[in-house]
Amino acid sequence: MTTPRSLAQLDTSSLIHPHTSIGRPLPPVVFERGDGALLWDTDGNEYIDGTCGLWQCPIGHGRQELADVAAEQIAKLEFYSSFGDYSNPPSILLAERLLQLAPNGIERIFFTNGGSEGTETAIKLARLAHHHAGQPERNVILARTAGYHGMAGGSLAATGIDRLREGYGPLLPGVEFLSKPHALGHGPDATDILIAELEERVQQIGPERIAAFIGEPVLGVGGMVPPPEGYWPRVQEVLRRHGILLIADEIVTAFGRTGHWFASQLYGIEPDLIVTAKGLSSGYIPMGAVLVGRRVLELADGALFLHGFTYNGHPVGAAVALANLGIIDREGLLDRAKTTGQRILEGLKPLEALDHVLEVRGIGMMLGIELAVGHDAASVQSGARADGLIVRATGSGIVLSPPLVITDEQVDTLIRIVTQHVQAVGA
Ligand SMILES: Cc1ncc(COP(=O)(O)O)c(C=O)c1O
Repeated sequence: MTTPRSLAQLDTSSLIHPHTSIGRPLPPVVFERGDGALLWDTDGNEYIDGTCGLWQCPIGHGRQELADVAAEQIAKLEFYSSFGDYSNPPSILLAERLLQLAPNGIERIFFTNGGSEGTETAIKLARLAHHHAGQPERNVILARTAGYHGMAGGSLAATGIDRLREGYGPLLPGVEFLSKPHALGHGPDATDILIAELEERVQQIGPERIAAFIGEPVLGVGGMVPPPEGYWPRVQEVLRRHGILLIADEIVTAFGRTGHWFASQLYGIEPDLIVTAKGLSSGYIPMGAVLVGRRVLELADGALFLHGFTYNGHPVGAAVALANLGIIDREGLLDRAKTTGQRILEGLKPLEALDHVLEVRGIGMMLGIELAVGHDAASVQSGARADGLIVRATGSGIVLSPPLVITDEQVDTLIRIVTQHVQAVGA
């Protein structure tokens, strides 16, 4: 029988993990079990999951209900293609549920297996829509510095983090970047400055050449950065005026993390395309959905959409996602995200008094701590983990996005451990 120790050795000798150096494996933490906001590794160590893995699990870990739903669906029909005219009951019912929850203007659903695939789909659909409507030259995509939209060809091209783009040769052409939408960098007039920049770039490029603007309502990987006050409605106004489609990347923000089903509802916008994944199934099965709005459907009406991936509309993923949305609803997790997020924000805010802490920010259960340059966010991550809390360092920031079911007691432990390690890196 394989012992836990030999599992770690086997990992090192057999796997390439995402985001590691080739031939330089890291000693693995082998997670074996989860329950709510807690995880246990094969050495029996317990951790509070302060990031929800890669911010994917609003309902927390270890739900038997989802295991049962998946098993039942696999026994009935594990999978069949949804290309062309094939369909299955769970994906039809999930599409209907998503249309009920979605912001105004959303009228159709295209299923995917994850986030990057969703962004690829949205970019292709935006370009195809204009092409079909007689404007093939409308193919530029506006994106933003510090934005993250995935690691596949097109989604990486729209990702505004240089380190992640390096070494992969020419990426999808036609993506133009705007500034990072962060009040910390632009001051109290941030929104005016960013909107002026958007107007100027639209004029420089030519509105008739721009297909879409893509952005996360709240920057995720880029540091859990809420937008400057009033930013989104004004962006939407500029785009509408110029016939540019708005793609909201809600892969992190949808399904409760900001205290709403969609952050677009919080910020008062009605995107033309909304990309989701992660929280849709709480990560129990890879599953994503692109929500398609009326304007796109009108432009693309009759266009042949030769696009799709084998597992789109997966019946097991759809059944699990439906049950997951049911739990979010039944357990009042949107409200819980608001109150618990506020509790964490208030608990960490005093850190702003430290010279090496530039900002403690957040909305709902998306929180970020920005350290002054030269202070080591990575050591906060490793120190906290040694104390049984998982947080994530991204550049000079530390990000938090616990499961929405995290208990108040676990939150207090989280605040204590983060405070201790942020204080320590300034000493
Ligand atoms: C905002 C955002 N968009 C896209 C993605 C890519 O999703 P995936 O890793 O499922 O392809 C992520 C993943 O973290 C994300 O945070």
